[in-house]
Parts: sequence; structure tokens; C-alpha cells
Amino acid sequence: MRRPMVAGNWKMNGRRGMAAELAAAVAESAPRDIDVLLCPPFPYLSTVVDAVGDVGVTVGAQNLCAHSDGAFTGEVSGEMLAESGCTHVLVGHSERRSLFGETSAQVASKFRRAQDAGLVPILCLGETLDEREAGRTSEVLDGQLQPVFDEAGVEGLARAVIAYEPVWAIGTGRSATPEQAQETHAWLRARVSRESPEVAAGLLLLYGGSVKADNAASLFGQADIDGGLIGGASLEADSFLAICKAATAQQ
Ligand code: 13P
Repeated sequence: MRRPMVAGNWKMNGRRGMAAELAAAVAESAPRDIDVLLCPPFPYLSTVVDAVGDVGVTVGAQNLCAHSDGAFTGEVSGEMLAESGCTHVLVGHSERRSLFGETSAQVASKFRRAQDAGLVPILCLGETLDEREAGRTSEVLDGQLQPVFDEAGVEGLARAVIAYEPVWAIGTGRSATPEQAQETHAWLRARVSRESPEVAAGLLLLYGGSVKADNAASLFGQADIDGGLIGGASLEADSFLAICKAATAQQ
């Protein structure tokens, strides 16, 4: 079946020493029967790649440029990330969408570019509180997914991960309940299944938004939740490792 994944998105936190220590601590104790991924800031990618060594913990970036080369000052390409040892890259995180104005069309181009560079994109999707309260969650998610189908086809999702991160749950301490998250994950899997039942069955669906050591097991215990994308709780080895352990227990 689907092998669980727990990914830590460090966002713009820490300094090099912390990156090295945290990565080494995770590498030493991470369970070996799930996929564990660390997504540090760009300048610390190689530090983290070196610190995790070859124990199976992998490294991803938090963003990439929609182009491979050229006059794009301040940007980093998928090829550069792959060469730095990344296997994965986040695309369309809600902070990229809301703070940096990324549109779903741009996110879809980045998704495609990541795959062309040999990386696995982790496509982040999610609705705001207003959208949820207006009963528009599935419409919003559909609007975020459709450009990816248009750009990469459903086959693109065979080499990708989706992270459902309700905007209202990110960094707020207010996680979706396991039932709310499961309902949305089931909707997402059914939506992909309309395009391809095989791709939907194999697709990893991570939940993100205020996942902590004490709520991880109940979230990961849901049928369509295959792991988590962890922000704040990934900045401390003990809490991140406890969340990884909770994913192991659900297999
Ligand atoms: P928190 O776990 O801090 O809510 O962040 C979630 C997130 O945005 C991960 O990408």
C-alpha cells in the first residue's frame, strides 16, 4: 500500500548550526519504515544533505523557479536543487500563494518544471476560513488542481505528492479535526479518481496545519491521510520524531 511520509517544512527559520544539529538528530532516530523528508531554507540544503548522510532521510526545497536557466535574478531552478541533493520540492504553499501572489497557473508551471528537473513536487492546496465557511472548499481545491491536470495531466500526479493544508490551520494551533481532514482527503482522492483510479489509489495525500505530537496519530489514523507536512513542530527534533513515530504506528 501507500508508504507514509512525514515532511518537515522549516520555512524561514533557524541558522546553519541549528540546521545541522536538527538534521543529524532526525537522521539518527527517524523510523526507517516511512519516508522522512526535511525542507530547510535554500542556503542550508547542502548542510542538511550532508548531515542526513545515507540513512534514507531525504531533503526537499520549499520553492523553485518556473524556468530552468536565465535572467531570473533571485530565483533557484529545479536543476540546481536536484544538483544540491534535493529529491522533492514544495509547490504552491499557501504562504507563496498569499504573500507572494503565486497563482494556481504559476504553481502548475512550477509543478511541471519540478518533474522535468527530476524532482517530486509536493503540491500544496487549501482553502481559507471564509471559503470553508461559505461551503466553497471543494470548489477552491478543484480550482487549484485543475491547472495541474491541464499542465501535467493526471499522469503527472503519479510522480507527485499532494499536501492538503487548510489555510486557517497553518500556524494557528487550530488543526482540522481528523474527520474534517479525512472528509477533504477523501474528496481529493475521489477527484483524482475521476481522472484515473490507479493514480488516485497510489497518491500520497499529506495533511498539514498545526500537526503536533499529540494530534498526529488521530490524523494519520484516517483512511485517506498518508502522513503530514509539518511546520512549527518540525523545528524541534523530539516533536518531529514523535510525529514520525505516529505515522509508523498507522501502517
Ligand atoms: P504548522 O505545522 O506550523 O501549522 O505549519 C504547517 C505548514 O504550513 C507546513 O507547510
